[in-house]
Amino acid sequence: MTDAQERIEQQLTDEVVASFAGAPDPRLRELMGALTRHLHAFIREVRLSEQEWKHAIDFLTAAGHLTDDRRQEFILLSDVLGASMQTVAVNNEAYRDATEATVFGPFFVEDSPMIGNGGDIAFGAPGTPCWVEGTVRDTDGHPVAGARVEVWEADEDGFYDVQYTDSRVTGRGHLFTEDDGGFRFWCVLPTPYPIPHDGPVGALLAAVHRSPMRAAHLHFMVTAAKLRTLVTHIFVEDDPQLKIGDSVFGVKESLVKRFTEQPAGTPAPDGRELGDRAWTRARFDVVLAEAPAQT
Ligand code: BEZ
Ligand code: FE
Repeated sequence: MTDAQERIEQQLTDEVVASFAGAPDPRLRELMGALTRHLHAFIREVRLSEQEWKHAIDFLTAAGHLTDDRRQEFILLSDVLGASMQTVAVNNEAYRDATEATVFGPFFVEDSPMIGNGGDIAFGAPGTPCWVEGTVRDTDGHPVAGARVEVWEADEDGFYDVQYTDSRVTGRGHLFTEDDGGFRFWCVLPTPYPIPHDGPVGALLAAVHRSPMRAAHLHFMVTAAKLRTLVTHIFVEDDPQLKIGDSVFGVKESLVKRFTEQPAGTPAPDGRELGDRAWTRARFDVVLAEAPAQT
């Protein structure tokens, strides 16, 4: 490239960065400046063709058209690019033995049913019954009473309730920890499922020969006063998808848990009558970090 061309390209970047200099909010100024520098560097590095630029615009337009309050194609895009997990990493620095965070995903719904300890979040979702118990503690080992534990999951067919066209509320609920920090509930054994891949993000995955499958997992969000909110999952140790890979890069070794099979006839911990059904059980002990200092 000639020096003159190099100068033209750099001048444009500098001019656009400077155009944000008057933003009264210093953080917005920083974000827009850095975004401009990185975006221009990308375009210059790959020598983006006008056809490729148009293709990218069409891709984003299609993502926008598909997005509504039940389908969020932009979160999926962020997830498959690892941008969601990088944001999780930046915002959840390792703190003593605090439980690791992972991707939020697009299927959390506010105001889930309150189930109470020992309740069942399945609400009829198909799947093998699964008993999950654990505690919430702080990093000094003190039990956290009254922590809100939100849980959500896909059914054994791989769908969240919001992916059905009826208005069912299944596979989600919340409860509060007891004085000793303990919690326990029924759900269904998580199974691997594909992220929605019938839109532009799915087309991108297909074009690069990547699978849309997620390793089997159960979502948690744990909130308690003065402690850092934890958004995470637990993964099923025996799931073969763990070795194949997770389409949104969400797996962390510390979050892989044993889900132990309980043959039909094994008494349930709470006396629930399961008839001739086998069930499973898992344990998840949560450690919450201190909340970051307010800036
Ligand atoms: C989920 O685990 O629910 C999820 C995460 C990322 C993309 C799609 C789904
Ligand atoms: Fe999920």
